[in-house]
Parts: sequence; structure tokens; C-alpha cells
Amino acid sequence: MLKFVFLSVLLLAGGVKGQDDEFLYDVFPPDFQWGVATSAYQIEGGAFADGKGLSNWDYWSHNGSYEGHCNVRDCQNGDVGGDSYHKFREDAALIKSMGADFYRFSLSWARIVPTGRVADGVNQAGIDHYNEVIDNLIAEGITPFITLYHWDLPLPLTWDGSWLNEDIIEHFKDYARIVFENYGDRVKLWLSFNEPHVFCFADWTYAYLNPFNWTQPVKPYICSHNILKAHALAWRMYDSEFRPTQGGKMGITLNCDWPEPLDPANSAHVEASDRSMHFHYGLYANPLLRGEYPPIMRSLIDAKSEAEGRNESRLPSFDAEWTQIVNGTLDFLGLNHYFAYKVVPDDNNESIWVEGDANIHIEPDDESWNHTAVGWPITPFGIRKVVKWIADEYNYPIYITENGYGHWENDTFNDPIRVEFYKQYINNVLRAVRLDGADVKSYTAWSLLDNYEWASGYSVRFGVHHVNYTDPNLTRTPKASAMYLKVVFADNGFPNATRTD
Ligand code: GAL
Repeated sequence: MLKFVFLSVLLLAGGVKGQDDEFLYDVFPPDFQWGVATSAYQIEGGAFADGKGLSNWDYWSHNGSYEGHCNVRDCQNGDVGGDSYHKFREDAALIKSMGADFYRFSLSWARIVPTGRVADGVNQAGIDHYNEVIDNLIAEGITPFITLYHWDLPLPLTWDGSWLNEDIIEHFKDYARIVFENYGDRVKLWLSFNEPHVFCFADWTYAYLNPFNWTQPVKPYICSHNILKAHALAWRMYDSEFRPTQGGKMGITLNCDWPEPLDPANSAHVEASDRSMHFHYGLYANPLLRGEYPPIMRSLIDAKSEAEGRNESRLPSFDAEWTQIVNGTLDFLGLNHYFAYKVVPDDNNESIWVEGDANIHIEPDDESWNHTAVGWPITPFGIRKVVKWIADEYNYPIYITENGYGHWENDTFNDPIRVEFYKQYINNVLRAVRLDGADVKSYTAWSLLDNYEWASGYSVRFGVHHVNYTDPNLTRTPKASAMYLKVVFADNGFPNATRTD
């Protein structure tokens, strides 16, 4: 009875198509694509298998740095993880049973090029492994969508300065060539980098390891500059040498949460939100689509650098040649999105973090917002707003490459909050497409299965499939959210109230 009352309310609420805050019953365009995602270090295991080199994360997860403490919660590492290195066929069967169109996964650079430098040799066993993964996906009717770099860097390159050392640009290009040569006949969707803003800014654990301390405010911008050059060279190489015969597409994926103005009626607050978007998303999208950093970043960081008594701006510039190389090197824009946060303008923020440079301040979450078990805001309106901002600013195809819900390890098979999360977030993507006219081509749930959540180890579960880490078989079991997504994927959205309520 209660369920009936609830359903009726929903039906009534959903009946008026197009109103801003109401659930929209409609479908996505017919060519819309659905997928699930993972990354190599988070699921593969096989850390020392078959000639693979060590990565920054193999080292980082095994070594402590904070006064003898482990870097990762409970000293956990990805040595075995979900063992997808051996269980990739099982994983593909899960993807198939969800009815997903594609699988977004990343390659371990060190598995293919053990030292990171192609001149030192490539690892045929690593190349063969991914050939099997790709062939198996295709045999199951799943499109492979490959990320070249999802944070695991060959260790020798890490000791060499990681993304702060310009030499890495050519090493990345050489690695990309090996990848396109070996897999490009069957793989048509590529991402160069996953979330450079995270590994360049957020925490040196993801990029540099000691002694490369991120706290100097110039390093995130040097890292980003080198990422942009590396992306551009790889894209140009793909475009001229591989695309003519292989015919695929290559983008980059950028993390971007939504800066909600504290007072949306106050234009200064709206401008603060806009600045935050330029400093997070525009930092990469603008150079790749327009050949230069967002003008607001240029003027603010140049002025601050001068005031700090520096001879040159902390934000590097592209010379004429690099401007030409970098400009126009995207086939689509990738977006990873999880939550919203509240911003206000703040001209006196001295923080060396993005807020200081962007003249903004982050306020506490709105009292009305719910949070995930691990404390992230649940703000489905944010995905619509962030997509609309990107669409308005760049008018370019958008692939949503990550979105999902994390829970502590006591997550169960019955995960109604995750189900509701997906329902509301995907509906807001639908509204961005149908009501705001955004050109969103695809949606990807993070993640196919529970995995190694970086510095949180296995304590946080993002999967729509549960992995039993205490069972030697690492058994995977679908959660209710996997079954829910299966219905949304099959329906291509929410054609009516009965299927997904
Ligand atoms: C993203 C990252 C993923 C995953 C996810 C959930 O930032 O790309 O690897 O960890 O967050 O936290």
C-alpha cells in the first residue's frame, strides 16, 4: 500500500515533462552509449606477473612515508586486488550481463613498457595479455574504451621527476605508439589521461612520491603543462599515422565537481562558481580546444606571480609552435563527476591550493544535502549543471566517463541508496540532454566492481558488483544497483514510471 502511495506521488510529480526539479520520464537519443569503468591498478593485481615493471603505486602502497605509517589505509596494496589480470573473462561476462555497450578500462604502462621507456624494451607478455582482454570483450559484444594513463606510472619515470620532467612527454608518446600499433585495429575509443587535475594538484601521493613535494604552488601547473603537451603529441600522432586506417576517436577525461554559488542570486557568487569551473575544467579543455589557458587563469595567476616577486608566471605559456600543436587536439570531452560543493568569492584567500589562485572560498555543504556513507555530497542537480556549463562554454561532444557511489566495506548486495543515486544522477544527465540541449554521447558508471580505492585501500567500495576479498576465488556478486542499471541501459533511460520504480 505504502509503495502504491509513493508510486502515485512519483507518477504525479513526473507527469509534467520538462519542469526543472521534476523527474523526467524520457529516453536518451538512440545512439547514446552505456558503460562501466575500472582502472588497471585498482582491479588487475598481477603486480609482478609475466615481466611487468613496477609502478609508482606498487612502490607507494608497499612503503610508508608518514613517520613510519603506511601510505595506504591498513597498509593495503594492489598486488592481487580483484585479480582481473586472471579474471578478465569473468569480468566481461558481468559487463555483458548488464547489457552495457562499452567497458572503460586502463592499461598498465609498466606491464607493456616495464621501465616506461620504449628504448629499454617492451614486454610481449603484457602486450599479449591486453590482446586477450580486448579480443574477449569484442567476442562478448562489448566495445573496448581504453584509458592510456590512469595514475600508475612506471617507477623509473617516477624517480626521474614524473610529470614535472619534460622528458616524459616523449616517453608517453612512444608508449602510446606501441598501444595504437598493437590494439588500434580493434580499439576505436581512447582516453589519454584520467583526471590530471587530481594527480597534478590533489596530493603528491598520486603523482610524485617523495621527494617531489606538491606544496610548491608552481608544480601543479608544470605537471598540467606537460600533460597537455603529452596529450597533444599523442593525439597528433594518432590523427596523422593511425586514424586514416583505424578511424577511432581520442579524448581526455577531466574530473569536475560542481561549484554551486552560495547565493545563486548574487552575481559575484555566480562569477566565483564560473572561475572555479575554469580553474578545474578549463585548465585542460581550453588549451586543447582553443590553444590557450582560460583568460581568467592567465590574468589572475600572472598578477599573483608578479606580486610574489617572481620573474615569470607560475602558469606556464605555450610558445607559438606549441600553441599550434596543442590547439584542436580533442575528438570529445570526457567528464568524471561525483558531487557539488558551495563557493563564494574571496579575493584574500592566501591558500596555495586552487581556491587561492581562483579567488574563491569553499563553504560547508548545504544543510539539506544528503551524503554518501563515506561523506561525499549526494547532489544530483550538480551533474546537470556541470554538463550544461561545459556544453555552453565549449559546445562539444561530452562523454561522461565516471559517476558513482562509494560505501564503506560493509556495503551489501542490497544497495538502495546507490540505486537511488544512479537513478537521480542519470535522470539529471537526461535533463541536460533533453532540456538544456547538451550533446552528451555516453554515460559510464564507476565502477564495474569493488576495487582498490587508492589511499583508502579496500575500505571503500564503489562497485555495482561485490567482490568477496576473503574468499580465495574473489567471487563477484551483482548488487541491486547492477540490476537497476541493466534496466536503465536496456530502456535507454526512463521511458515510463513502471520499469525503474
Ligand atoms: C576517480 C578516479 C577513480 C576512482 C573514483 C572514485 O577520481 O578516477 O579511479 O577512484 O574517483 O573515487
